Amino acid sequence: ADPLTILGLESSCDDTAAAVVRHVPGRAPEILSSVVAGQTALHAAYGGVVPEIAARAHAEKLDICVEEALSKAGLGLSGLEAVAVTAGPGLIGGVLSGVMCAKGIAAASGLPLIGVNHLAGHALTPRLTDQLRFPYLILLVSGGHCQFLRVNGPDDFTRLGGTIDDAPGEAFDKTARLLGLPQPGGPSVEAQAAKGDETRFALPRPLLDRQGCDMSFSGLKTAVLRARDALVADKGGLTVQDRADLCAGFQAAVRDVLAEKSRRALAEYMAGAPAEPAFAVAGGVAANKAIRAGLETVSDALGVRFTAPPLPLCTDNAAMIAWAGIELFRLGRRDDMTLAARPRWPL
Ligand code: KG4
Ligand code: ZN
Repeated sequence: ADPLTILGLESSCDDTAAAVVRHVPGRAPEILSSVVAGQTALHAAYGGVVPEIAARAHAEKLDICVEEALSKAGLGLSGLEAVAVTAGPGLIGGVLSGVMCAKGIAAASGLPLIGVNHLAGHALTPRLTDQLRFPYLILLVSGGHCQFLRVNGPDDFTRLGGTIDDAPGEAFDKTARLLGLPQPGGPSVEAQAAKGDETRFALPRPLLDRQGCDMSFSGLKTAVLRARDALVADKGGLTVQDRADLCAGFQAAVRDVLAEKSRRALAEYMAGAPAEPAFAVAGGVAANKAIRAGLETVSDALGVRFTAPPLPLCTDNAAMIAWAGIELFRLGRRDDMTLAARPRWPL
């Protein structure tokens, strides 16, 4: 195999990103640049991502991110082998902006174009950071996603289970909103939870009584709402300690569900006798220390190597798209100007 240097673009949610990744076979891949322009401030007033605002910001920022990524990498388009772009799933306006930008670059430079599934980008990140061997198990856990995947190859995934309703990040965000804490909810709930007593409120661990690796988090959010309303009815409001205890109880419930379901997913994965057993977590919720510790304990108990990419590579970024592009390029994948933006694209 030849050395490859690929430009990646990402614009499927509320981060505009461009990155250049280089891989020399036999060596660890190298992230030459990774630029992420977030949009948190643009959406703050609306309590969530507004698709139209996101699409416009992506269209405005993509070119700037690409230029910055190339200049930080010290390369022009002639130094690249291909351009990879998130072609879905995601907010269609943003995905379209990215795909059009990548097509423009490909048309102007003659470089091959590779459409990447955003989830595959997350799922292949542990190979970029830790050179994991196939097959490994990954838990994707973010504001929009929650699923266990056995990663058999760059374009070969087996879904072992996932949420049947909300994603955990969404539950963290809603819990923060219910308790009057700032968005994004994950970090603010985690900070409160550190000061709280997780045993004070007995919150449910949904679906633990059911077999398999499917999960549910919407009932947990409702339980937080009920506990809050009971406190308000009782005392007219929440104290600082009430808030911390509710956050701690909520976080412990998510931690326990993810750990127990991971134990089951790992058992199923290990039944296939993988050569180098490994379990990775990716997505914004992987930032949570308690949740990470829960997953690590379960992996240790089974003798499975546990890894989590560094935080900037857990959340949305374009280095993961460039890397997925490298892996797909080596499989012979090339797209052309008919590449479509897909709002839905299950792995
Ligand atoms: O992967 P990501 O950046 O974007 C997508 O959702 O695709 O994940 C963002 C989500 C948000 O819901 C955020 O609240 C959650 O990850 N998150 C956390 C933490 N940091 C971010 N959840 C729990 N604990 C955290 N420390
Ligand atoms: Zn993502």
